[in-house]
Amino acid sequence: MTQWMLRAYAKVNLGLRVLHRRDDGYHELDTYFLQISLADQLFFEKTGSAKLVFTCNWPEIPADQSNLCVRAYHLIAAKMGRELGLQLHLQKNVPAGGGLGGGSSDAAMTLMAINHIYRLGWSKKDLHQLALQLGSDVSFFLEGGLCRGQGRGEILSPLASLPQFWILLIVPGIAVSTASVYKNIKLGLTKSYRNSTFALLNFVPFDGCDIELLGVNDLEEVVFARHPELLAIKDKLQRAGALLANMTGSGAVVFGVFGSYEQAHQTQEEFRSEYRTIVARPIKWGYDDVDLL
Ligand code: C5P
Repeated sequence: MTQWMLRAYAKVNLGLRVLHRRDDGYHELDTYFLQISLADQLFFEKTGSAKLVFTCNWPEIPADQSNLCVRAYHLIAAKMGRELGLQLHLQKNVPAGGGLGGGSSDAAMTLMAINHIYRLGWSKKDLHQLALQLGSDVSFFLEGGLCRGQGRGEILSPLASLPQFWILLIVPGIAVSTASVYKNIKLGLTKSYRNSTFALLNFVPFDGCDIELLGVNDLEEVVFARHPELLAIKDKLQRAGALLANMTGSGAVVFGVFGSYEQAHQTQEEFRSEYRTIVARPIKWGYDDVDLL
């Protein structure tokens, strides 16, 4: 039996502005997503029985409808009006509940893999429609690379080239509920973001987008109030010379951007005794690359 393996890469939000609350309950965002080399692995195999068999190396990951891979499979089955025979094993490496988009990336790769393996012939636009039903940042993983995200995060403007820097992730072992963070944000009181990291301009050709957005993540205020050690991590990353140090998404992972591997690695050593740390690189892998399978 042929087995397909796909990597589901994680992301960081280089910066994230929350503009306002919408009538549908979501928040209007302006963010820069950057796909990174840290990844889960998904193993797919066609089977003869018309159902999904899902397994995962982490026993605490649910295999029911709350699992985004399982939901992605059922969305496709519903659209087709029949179930497909599929065995799916998820090898989880990306910390869950950290704002790294691991579950969303797994879901996007499941959509792409089933489309490819079963030769469904659905366009990227078709998959974007399904992706948005699964979560606000699932769409990004169909694009990959570096994108400005607006709307709920699904209106994507890909940026031409990838920044050449190193990202040090500090994983504090705190899982944060995205919904509760958005619920508690105080809009209108968010701080000015005018003093941002222009040093990034040396690394990123931002195609004229608003570089000032990068300096801030508006969700930090809520999460840092609950977990002051995250602010201490951010401060320490800044003191270590990070070009940018922010929480990603709704947290709780905090990352630093460094211009060289040596600097990222040296700083990693300073955190290693207290936290799980990961050094990653920007990467681009999305729908347009699926033929490489
Ligand atoms: O879309 P997703 O399921 O990832 O969002 C989780 C929760 O985060 C939503 O239920 C909503 O409360 C909040 N959210 C938001 N605005 C966004 C994205 C997420 O309010 N743009």
